[in-house]
Amino acid sequence: MKTDHHRRLSSPSLNPTFIKAAKPAAYFILLLLTYALGYLSHQPSPTTLSLSPSQSSLSKSSSSSLLPSPPPPMLLSPPIIHFSINATQLNPFRVTTRCAHPIPPETVRRTLVDRLFNGTSPYDNFPPPHAAAKLRTSQVKGWGSNGAVFENVIRRVRPKIVVEVGTFLGASAIHMAGLTQRLGLETQILCVDDFRGWAGFKERFGKIPMENGDVWLYYQFLQNVVTFKHSETVLPVPFSSGSTLMLLCEWGVMADLVEIDAGHDFLSAWADINRGFRILRPGGVIFGHDYFTAADNRGVRRAVDLFAKVNHLKVTVDGQHWVIYTS
Ligand SMILES: C[S@@+](CC[C@H](N)C(=O)[O-])C[C@H]1O[C@@H](n2cnc3c(N)ncnc32)[C@H](O)[C@@H]1O
Repeated sequence: MKTDHHRRLSSPSLNPTFIKAAKPAAYFILLLLTYALGYLSHQPSPTTLSLSPSQSSLSKSSSSSLLPSPPPPMLLSPPIIHFSINATQLNPFRVTTRCAHPIPPETVRRTLVDRLFNGTSPYDNFPPPHAAAKLRTSQVKGWGSNGAVFENVIRRVRPKIVVEVGTFLGASAIHMAGLTQRLGLETQILCVDDFRGWAGFKERFGKIPMENGDVWLYYQFLQNVVTFKHSETVLPVPFSSGSTLMLLCEWGVMADLVEIDAGHDFLSAWADINRGFRILRPGGVIFGHDYFTAADNRGVRRAVDLFAKVNHLKVTVDGQHWVIYTS
């Protein structure tokens, strides 16, 4: 028995079952070898960013158009092309815009009401007669809007000004208003949102009234704030995040706390984080929702991590939120 077993081991070529099993294994090893060869010929680098093939060809043509094109990839071509980038090459990602001299926090609400709303509070004479019958007394729906992170950062910073980028029906803003009230803080919460939702959101929020294609998200948000008696604390800034954050910076409106929760794709999150950080006071906290969302290939997380890397900051995770403390 034993001898027979040894014979089979020492002469595998004689066994057709073994040949059958060995063939795919041999192909696999060959593949691995060619891949390893390709990998070893690639130069290591401190930081690696991923580009799509089209982006990659753009960067190649600008930097090395005179060089012969590289040999075609062997057998296995990875779907994402990697290229080397060092710390100084991150410089184009650094945003160095300077905002105007900060105005006193006590003057922020008045300044915005004057400059954005011709001096009339958006809550004056609300709701207008044509909307009153259609709005619900309260319809508050959010995502992670009551998470512990809000209390954690509010207790730490004791903010006078909070800028929330992405408000929807006001769930997180109303929660923060309640927290600041309980802590005896005099806080203004500025809610930056175009109150348009997102394309297709009506499929999930069909009960919010719509008129002439205009969804009444803004009206329902105002109604929610009024119902919860926070209209003295919560002020809507009903415009796009990009233009609003640039304007706040230009007007010297600074925040102790900036919450980012608008677009969840990389480019939106990247723009909002960079612009939101411009208006953050020294020692303030910037944080945001959906660090773990899969949207846009983890767009929020990629934006947060790149931002932290470029600015030498540390990202902390609190529940579903990312948090960056500046002190
Ligand atoms: C996820 S919801 C915000 C939820 C809210 N923070 C909460 O917890 O209840 C995202 C909001 O961002 C707003 N939004 C998306 N992109 C925006 C942009 N570029 N400018 C302004 N608002 C935007 C949408 O209208 C939507 O109300």
